[in-house]
Amino acid sequence: MATTAKKTGTASKANSKKTTGLTGKMEDSEFHKFFVDELKDIYWAEKHLVKALPKMSKAATSTDLAAAFEKHTQETQMHIDTLEEVFALLDEKPAAKKCDAMAGLLEEADSIIADTDKGTLTRDAGLILAAQKVEHYEIATYGTLKTFAENMGHTDAANLLQQTLDNEKATDVALTEIATGYVNAEAAAE
Ligand SMILES: [Fe+2]
Ligand SMILES: [Fe+2]
Repeated sequence: MATTAKKTGTASKANSKKTTGLTGKMEDSEFHKFFVDELKDIYWAEKHLVKALPKMSKAATSTDLAAAFEKHTQETQMHIDTLEEVFALLDEKPAAKKCDAMAGLLEEADSIIADTDKGTLTRDAGLILAAQKVEHYEIATYGTLKTFAENMGHTDAANLLQQTLDNEKATDVALTEIATGYVNAEAAAE
């Protein structure tokens, strides 16, 4: 079948490149350029998220959720700093490239604030939904970028990306705990 032949062809081409790649420059490869481009995308995403989280904290009803967003604002600033370290390790200048996915997710968070009443737990349930969508987007991104870095032999960059990935996962768990702890139940009773 044509598909199989194409797959086999690509695999052997990749293998032969790997052999010559030992003396060639990985930085010139399309994969490396794609990796750097995607780092720019998540860099834009984090830089916008760090501005959105304080607004989400202000909009939250429960002090727990407000505190969780405040905590993650600090952590998100660390994610930005970490990405700058990754760019430095790769000899690249930190640059942001518009991330349409994050722009859309943050727009959704704004709509949730607009569509729910201030001082309600329904507002918080909605904010948690919006925030968890963001965290899952970040988890997917950092998970993939970490494996890219590993594949290209950028071990230090991979370790830094793993640190951020762990923090995004912990944030997601903390948000679930707030939601299932009392927010969802109280929202249901409103
Ligand atoms: Fe982040
Ligand atoms: Fe995050």
